[in-house]
Amino acid sequence: MASPADDKPRICVGVIAGAHGVHGEARVRAFTDDPFDVAAYGEVETEDGSLRFSMTVIREAKPGVLVVALEGITLSREQVQAMNGTQLYVSRDALPAPEDEDEFYYADLIGLAASYPDGRPLGTVLAVADYGAGDMVDIKLAHSSKTIVVPFTREVVPSVDLKAGRIVVNPPGGLIDDAPEGEVDASAAKGAGAVMTDPTDSTAQTAQTAQTAPASDPPSPWQATILTLFPDMFPGPLGFSLAGRALDQQIWALNTLNIRDFATDKHHSVDDTPAGGGAGMVMRADVVGAALESLGYQGSAKGETAEKAPNPASISAGEKAPNSLPLNAPLLYLSPRGKPLSQSRVKALATGPGVTVLCGRFEGLDERVITHFGIEEVSIGDYVLSGGEPAALVLLDAVIRLLPGVLGAPETLAEESFEDGLLEYPHFTRPAQWQGKPIPDVLTSGHHGRIAEWRQAERERITKERRPDLWRRYMAEEQSGKDE
Ligand code: ADE
Repeated sequence: MASPADDKPRICVGVIAGAHGVHGEARVRAFTDDPFDVAAYGEVETEDGSLRFSMTVIREAKPGVLVVALEGITLSREQVQAMNGTQLYVSRDALPAPEDEDEFYYADLIGLAASYPDGRPLGTVLAVADYGAGDMVDIKLAHSSKTIVVPFTREVVPSVDLKAGRIVVNPPGGLIDDAPEGEVDASAAKGAGAVMTDPTDSTAQTAQTAQTAPASDPPSPWQATILTLFPDMFPGPLGFSLAGRALDQQIWALNTLNIRDFATDKHHSVDDTPAGGGAGMVMRADVVGAALESLGYQGSAKGETAEKAPNPASISAGEKAPNSLPLNAPLLYLSPRGKPLSQSRVKALATGPGVTVLCGRFEGLDERVITHFGIEEVSIGDYVLSGGEPAALVLLDAVIRLLPGVLGAPETLAEESFEDGLLEYPHFTRPAQWQGKPIPDVLTSGHHGRIAEWRQAERERITKERRPDLWRRYMAEEQSGKDE
């Protein structure tokens, strides 16, 4: 992205993640390979170039997040807090050249012309993003408004010539259809497609990183494996919009197993009456156990508890399941009795290789399956659904939107509900007046500082009113920040 000041390319090395203490120190999430390097390239500037300062790292608060002192500028705690979410840029020239000839700064790749190996023009590089298992290149096609996303591997991108401003791309078979414009799958057009065809958004997305992008093996998709009695319920709503497009692009993959296929009696029974009596039916341990074992989950030895065979260590890391699923995917059972699903659990799942989800039906699952395999029980809320499938769809939706490349403008994630413990501020858009109601003046003032302050105040007000539990936790964390 070009600096408004001197029009030279810049790289975003980090983003302000809140105020720290009372002396105008800040928490900064670093995008550099080594987080401590966030302060190593001299002065940083804000996106609009209106503020410039240096930083001294005081300590690492948590992995990738540093407490820094701002040098050459005096800001109050409130002013730093109002800068939450502000991206910090350094000049591209301040960064060292990549050490390896196979390594590139994302920023250097953006805007390059992409052509087929035979020289025909393919399009322009919009963005490069790390999809968790490797780097992917977003290319805006030359003769269409569509974009494609290809793995940044030697096989698919055999040549990068920065001097000539060109990359050669060998798109994987079937990726580029010749469907005329307007005949694109509606879900793709409605979803991230609209954003991804916008070069501004896509550029912002990947100009954020100072990490180098080594050519590597094709990334594996994030793998969702669902054990269910109703496999036809999947992908269901996840076949549309953002998740549907990401499924088409193999950012994530879906594998459903019909639990009934593992029943052994002639009636294919999967349930039986509860031991000790009572209403309803219980899912049988032998049937569900066989389904899990078919995926390579082994469970604990006889008599051991889940602690001795914790999830997911009950499977040797790195091993491949018989059906080639990543065996170190966490194994979850969706049930109203589970631990409430949180945004932090969702984020952790998004950074892993995938998830295996067991969907219950009837009164529930024989408890021995849960302890034997050390299964993590998760609830999506304090209400009872007729089965785990809708809950699995909710969980997957929450995770998939966080996978790299799914959202067109991932910087919006920094401001949404539950980030830093607060609910999101209210949004407005045109028309300026609707039903006699105007947009709040501050939002049309163009004053970024005041807008940020107003939004922060609104986040606090809404959280305090609607979620006293979150508000108490937020206040306690703020207080401990001041005490440090
Ligand atoms: N299955 C039934 N109700 C559920 C809930 N609230 N959360 C997760 N799974 C469920």
